[in-house]
Amino acid sequence: MTDHDLSQGDFFAPPDPILTCGTIADLHDLARGCTRCEELVEARTQVVPGVGPPDARVFFIGEAPGRREDAQGEPFVGDAGAYLTELLEKIGLSRGEVFISNIVKCRPPENRNPKTPEIENCAPYLERQLALIKPELVVLLGRFALERFFPREKITESAGVPRRKTIAGHEMTFLPLLHPAFGIRRQDLKPEIEKSFWKIREMLDGAGGPAE
Ligand code: URA
Repeated sequence: MTDHDLSQGDFFAPPDPILTCGTIADLHDLARGCTRCEELVEARTQVVPGVGPPDARVFFIGEAPGRREDAQGEPFVGDAGAYLTELLEKIGLSRGEVFISNIVKCRPPENRNPKTPEIENCAPYLERQLALIKPELVVLLGRFALERFFPREKITESAGVPRRKTIAGHEMTFLPLLHPAFGIRRQDLKPEIEKSFWKIREMLDGAGGPAE
């Protein structure tokens, strides 16, 4: 074997503990000790890995924790979270029955957008969450969640249009939707956001819609 062959070291590398982690609880413990992003480690109060039952049918992916999420250690507990909970209830889902996480599991300082290397560093945690939970439906909330899985798409064009993609060997159905924070900043968008959430119900039931 030449030196060049030896440099292809992955063959001998130990398995990645994130990508081989056997349970959501163990995965979240690993995430809580993560030090991959210097700036986020410095800024965070705690890691916010995600919340929900390991057999959830629906997995929601937002952008990143904000101030309240960082303080409480749970995603979507601020204003956008209250609106998300309301939207779920409208379509007959309770917060406790879905899984909720983010593209990035630590709060970016001053709520700035997550940077590409931070998204990349955090990707194995998200991938493993998806592989362990194997949800029937993955809901991508907003631009950052959409771009992670479908990099060339725009949320304003793709919202409401389901598509399939294989992640970690599992083919999954993804539904991009406008981020609930949009509805808080732009009250006029609320009817459109609420209507689009019915797509989730429809996809879980194979039919349905708001009662007239
Ligand atoms: N809270 C989260 O946890 N994620 C978001 O994307 C927005 C608010």
